[in-house]
Amino acid sequence: MAETPLMTILKPNITRMSAYAPPLEGRNPHEHLLLDFNERTLPVSHHIKQALIDFIQNDRIQVYPAYGNLNEKIADYAGVKPEQVMITNGSDQGIDIIIRSACSAGDEIIIPSPTFAMYQQCAGVENLKVIEPEYTKDGGFPLQPVLGALSPETGLVVIANPNNPSGTPTSVEDILTIAKAAPDTAILVDECYFEYSKLTIADQVMDFPNILITRTFSKTWGLPSIRLGYVISHPDNINALLNVRGPYDVNQFAAVAIHAALDHPEYTHDYVSEVMEQSKPLFESFLQQKNISFWNSAANFIWAFPENSSVIEQHLRSKGILVRPKASSDGKMGLRVTLGDLAQTQRMVTAFEEALAL
Ligand SMILES: Cc1ncc(COP(=O)(O)O)c(C=O)c1O
Repeated sequence: MAETPLMTILKPNITRMSAYAPPLEGRNPHEHLLLDFNERTLPVSHHIKQALIDFIQNDRIQVYPAYGNLNEKIADYAGVKPEQVMITNGSDQGIDIIIRSACSAGDEIIIPSPTFAMYQQCAGVENLKVIEPEYTKDGGFPLQPVLGALSPETGLVVIANPNNPSGTPTSVEDILTIAKAAPDTAILVDECYFEYSKLTIADQVMDFPNILITRTFSKTWGLPSIRLGYVISHPDNINALLNVRGPYDVNQFAAVAIHAALDHPEYTHDYVSEVMEQSKPLFESFLQQKNISFWNSAANFIWAFPENSSVIEQHLRSKGILVRPKASSDGKMGLRVTLGDLAQTQRMVTAFEEALAL
């Protein structure tokens, strides 16, 4: 029997897409200073390691996951009610489920850009029409263009707060202006970097049931390999989203690690303060001193535009420091640099300065 070409079996919008494949291979935290993925640059608390070891020793790997009071604990941490929370396999899964649940093929999705690639990826899978108002270095979040782009066809508006790669914060006021202007449209507010920015709209989800927030334990908490995110929204939305998420999508390792993390949250506090109050101002003043332009960031990373960004990236790499090249919409190549602790930032700044002289 003749083989049927795959192209005719799978949906054309899926086969036309390319995979979301970030450059993760070959990164080794024991060899490199990893400033390329906005990760925590220090290991996690020993309480988490011990909880994972205990779990393995306890012979429960052959049993399906059970989460105990994890929802309650996360809700408590987030200052909302348990019925306003759904745990997910990383916030990527929250983003995917929200977009799948809110949009139908052919709908428009407003994704202010440049931004995190996952929104486009999910929009491609759902065959949505993407509208991309642009962030600007001086103007920040494109409020008026987003309001102007709203139409009866809009299925969802994405607001990454703060945005990646630019670090741009969006005010509660601007988010609510959009939520009010489009009360029947889903507003996805991605608070992936919440612990750094302290920006949140979580206290508004009961008054604005069109707002759905995604959050994660991948960044400040240092657990991206474990994959745990959560959605915060009105309980009616959470109940509907639970119809989409699988019952075991969050693995037991994640549940064990996050229980331990929330029992001992101290390890994140000092790290966040050091990154935001010492490392970030140090790098900002270095960039200012060297007349290198950069975007105003509310997160643990800075998108900078030195003249010779590829030389700098190569030099940093030769010193074992990885940063992420990211082009702006006008094609200029910048570097998105994650901030670690003070000593790591000093090391990066020294190598950066050397590269400027090359
Ligand atoms: C804005 C934004 N949202 C979501 C994510 C995904 O995080 P997670 O590991 O929770 O899937 C990232 C990761 O870089 C991000 O930058």
